Amino acid sequence: MTVVRQTAAEEAAATGRRRASFHALTVAEVRRLTDDAIEVTFGVPPELAGQFDYLPGQYVALRTTLPDADGEPREVRRSYSICAEPRSFEDGSSEIRVAIKKDLGGLFSTWANAELKAGDVLDVMSPMGAFVSKHSRDGSAVEQNVMTSMNNPEQLAGQSGNFVAIAAGSGITPVIAIARTLLAAHPETRFDLIYANKAAMDVMFLEELADLKDKYPSRLALHHVLSREQRIAPLLSGRIDAEKLQSLLGTAIHSDDVDEWFLCGPFELVQLCRDTLAARGVEPEHVRFELFTSGKPDRPEGNIGRPVVADESQATYKITFKLDGLQGEVASPTHARESILNAALRVRPDVPFACAGGVCGTCRAKVVAGSVTMDENYALEQDELDKGYVLTCQSHPTTAEVAVDFDV
Ligand code: FES
Repeated sequence: MTVVRQTAAEEAAATGRRRASFHALTVAEVRRLTDDAIEVTFGVPPELAGQFDYLPGQYVALRTTLPDADGEPREVRRSYSICAEPRSFEDGSSEIRVAIKKDLGGLFSTWANAELKAGDVLDVMSPMGAFVSKHSRDGSAVEQNVMTSMNNPEQLAGQSGNFVAIAAGSGITPVIAIARTLLAAHPETRFDLIYANKAAMDVMFLEELADLKDKYPSRLALHHVLSREQRIAPLLSGRIDAEKLQSLLGTAIHSDDVDEWFLCGPFELVQLCRDTLAARGVEPEHVRFELFTSGKPDRPEGNIGRPVVADESQATYKITFKLDGLQGEVASPTHARESILNAALRVRPDVPFACAGGVCGTCRAKVVAGSVTMDENYALEQDELDKGYVLTCQSHPTTAEVAVDFDV
């Protein structure tokens, strides 16, 4: 599962532009959610708590080394949304919880579902992403200490609202954290959740959602839609297509006055929802969305490309980059058509990336000289593109010299 964040400015507001960096964290608990999904809790020691504060809806990248199909060790990185609201403990420690659903053929998710256990250590990147409520982004909760404020939801009091989320499969992961936080923050907040799955056995956080409904019976409306099981209400059975979505919006959502929409799931569903909401006159700034994959199975996540050897006899692009205030330079053979990220990683292994598929936005940098062409972009908004930001995992030089800046 990987994620798309929204604009750079929003992420900056959400995260304070913290530089994403990996830290070794120990698995405190692995809990089975469904036959093919687990919840993993990482303990965060007090000295790292500041690196791992977050807002509900953000995600972390996980990194480890696993044997590939040929038995060769291979570094794998995957992004997972955080599924719990922030909390810290008296000793200053905290925790990060993610849900990992087994993807068909997914190296990391298959391994994690079968093997990961308490006591194991993984590299976890500091939380990122702007799939967060504006009620979390605005005001003191962001500008001061995120963790402190989010541990005390009453600090967000006075900001009631109507919220709607449409999630599919593991798209529930960030949404449940957002719903819990917003419902706790104000006694008049209402939250409608449409949650699509194939069958009841696939529903992640089934008990937690039922508990949340018990806690807020009149303020949380929960609509489970099952595509391969017949429910009593025909509206809640079958795949969500354009027609069903219109019906759901017309009958299940009880207010026309929605402050924020949260869309989280595969590309097709999120796109359908965005288009439908736009056609209904919903302004884009009221719609938060996050994708779980690029929708292209031929582009596996975490592929950072084949090794490239730069030979002085070959024509090369000169790529320079700035990262954490330090300049780097690398030559990239023109025939190799490698990405800026791939080239930069040869000389700076700490260049940030997670999905390598144009989805998460972790590898974003600004082009400050020369030009590039991008293959895929599921992460950057038009205003970021206009300012010169690119996804370095998808960018290839189109001029002899290119300079990018990861720090802006
Ligand atoms: S690493 Fe995810 S978009 Fe480039």
